[in-house]
Amino acid sequence: MLRAPAGLPAPDKPPATAQGPPETLSAMTRILVLLAHPQLESSSVARALVEATLAVRTTRKADRADRTSTTRPDPMGPYTAGPNTTELRDLYTLYPDYLIDVAAEQAVLVGVDLLVWLHPIHWYGMPPLMKLWLDEVFAFGWAYGPGGHALRGTDLWLVTSTGGPESSYRGDGYNRYFFDAFLPPYEQTANLAGMRFLPPLVLHGAHRADAAELARHAAVYAERLDTYPHWPELDEIEAGTACDVPADARPAD
Ligand SMILES: Cc1cc2nc3c(=O)[nH]c(=O)nc-3n(C[C@H](O)[C@H](O)[C@H](O)COP(=O)(O)O)c2cc1C
Repeated sequence: MLRAPAGLPAPDKPPATAQGPPETLSAMTRILVLLAHPQLESSSVARALVEATLAVRTTRKADRADRTSTTRPDPMGPYTAGPNTTELRDLYTLYPDYLIDVAAEQAVLVGVDLLVWLHPIHWYGMPPLMKLWLDEVFAFGWAYGPGGHALRGTDLWLVTSTGGPESSYRGDGYNRYFFDAFLPPYEQTANLAGMRFLPPLVLHGAHRADAAELARHAAVYAERLDTYPHWPELDEIEAGTACDVPADARPAD
């Protein structure tokens, strides 16, 4: 079940259940924010984004009546977005024992339009519980392989932060590679599951970000959640590369 991340107010809406989201939400664009931060209480970036997520969940814009068009507006003009609903799942609160309820996680994912992975970069990748979630939830025959179509067509958006400043992610910096060099495992995971990998939102140099920078970052994130799928660049982003994994790619049970 959904619980508020430590130190944050309780979510206002009931969680999606193993039977799927409430009926009234089925026609809406569904956004699921999957949060994985092992120490949220000492976080600044993820905490700011969690608060922004909760705010987006509760305060829909007053001009909702004008935001029902399904046609994409002039990219230079104001955003027009259809109604959407945003859910937040905090993996470290849900599964402090690392015993992931795979069936519940899979049920919540069905019908999600935008899956957000919100986590700090740890050792050039995702924190361990997020990785375990991926190992178990993105199962052969469910997320990929024969019959594994559950996530086909879902958009995947990585929202992350690094301790290293952008200048460290260069050939002459101490991280030696551009940050993009660490993204292929994410992108190919999306491809294998038939998902589309959207351009990540990354805050570099997290420890040096002051309150104003954090607020700006959170505002960009919130605007994105609020206006999905009407992002100016989405039309240009093609669906992921189809990857057919044959049945014999995995040992029989
Ligand atoms: C175990 C661990 C591993 C980390 N690995 C990296 C890394 O590979 N690259 C990097 O730039 N920062 C790394 N960091 C720094 C985190 O990315 C940084 O603390 C985080 O983005 C800050 O976000 P927060 O305020 O939400 O905690 C690591 C931090 C921890 C605790």
